[in-house]
Amino acid sequence: MCRIICITARKDGAGKTTTAINLSAAFEIAEKKTLLVDCDPIGHATTGLGVDGMQIKGSLYEGMVGKIQAAKLIIKKGPGFPDLIPGALDLYRYSTENGKNKESVLRDLLEEVKDQYDYIVIDTPQTPVILMINAFIAADLLFVTIPCEYLSIAGIGYHFDTFQMIKKGFGLNNDLDHILLTKMDTQEITCRLIAKELRERFKKKVFETAIPICSQLKNSPAYGKPVFLTDINSKGARSYLKLACEIIEKYQQR
Ligand SMILES: Nc1ncnc2c1ncn2[C@@H]1O[C@H](COP(=O)(O)OP(=O)(O)O)[C@@H](O)[C@H]1O
Ligand SMILES: [Mg+2]
Repeated sequence: MCRIICITARKDGAGKTTTAINLSAAFEIAEKKTLLVDCDPIGHATTGLGVDGMQIKGSLYEGMVGKIQAAKLIIKKGPGFPDLIPGALDLYRYSTENGKNKESVLRDLLEEVKDQYDYIVIDTPQTPVILMINAFIAADLLFVTIPCEYLSIAGIGYHFDTFQMIKKGFGLNNDLDHILLTKMDTQEITCRLIAKELRERFKKKVFETAIPICSQLKNSPAYGKPVFLTDINSKGARSYLKLACEIIEKYQQR
């Protein structure tokens, strides 16, 4: 059964794209067939997998407006890479054009290819909001990345209230969100305190695995590869593998 995961956050720079790329690649290593969907007009997940957004035949946008079938949008780069539906700047247009039931178009599009995958991971932007809502509606699971920095937790209760409000508004299941701590620096006392506070407050919703600060994670997009293909022994690579194992185990039990 395919699980669709939306990777979201309350702000940019929270490690969403890094997580979308490397978690998808980690699932592939675990022999779970995975599709990464780049729903962000900025297209960093696309670039990070070595695909030039300006040179592709079609982006997610063409799929969402019904010009190209989902299967025809998929780029297969081979071993070590997840399959990819690329994102590009034209996704911005989706927010300005009229259409019926625009909120559930991504869900319907992914329905066409769902059977071919164990996991579909969506790299989700905050804006345009219509894209974020599409990703929320398409997803079975919502993962919120939170970097271990003070400004990440200031006002966090309000943020989750807003999430719940959006989800309730669209009649979505509220139980399946999880928090992933990113950019963890165990040498930093503030960082440790923030992680502790989030774990106490959100309990089992917080993944045991936290993603450490790791220069290899920062640099691997420059090579157009997931971190496993640039430095499999880095702590960043090991943490995303551990996260994939945690997720696989968690959802096998359900
Ligand atoms: N664990 C990490 N260690 C070091 N740098 C990271 C880590 N996670 C993300 N980064 C870097 O932080 C920046 C923002 O991360 P990104 O994944 O693009 O966030 P988002 O998609 O939420 O905007 C990027 O330069 C990325 O390489
Ligand atoms: Mg991003």
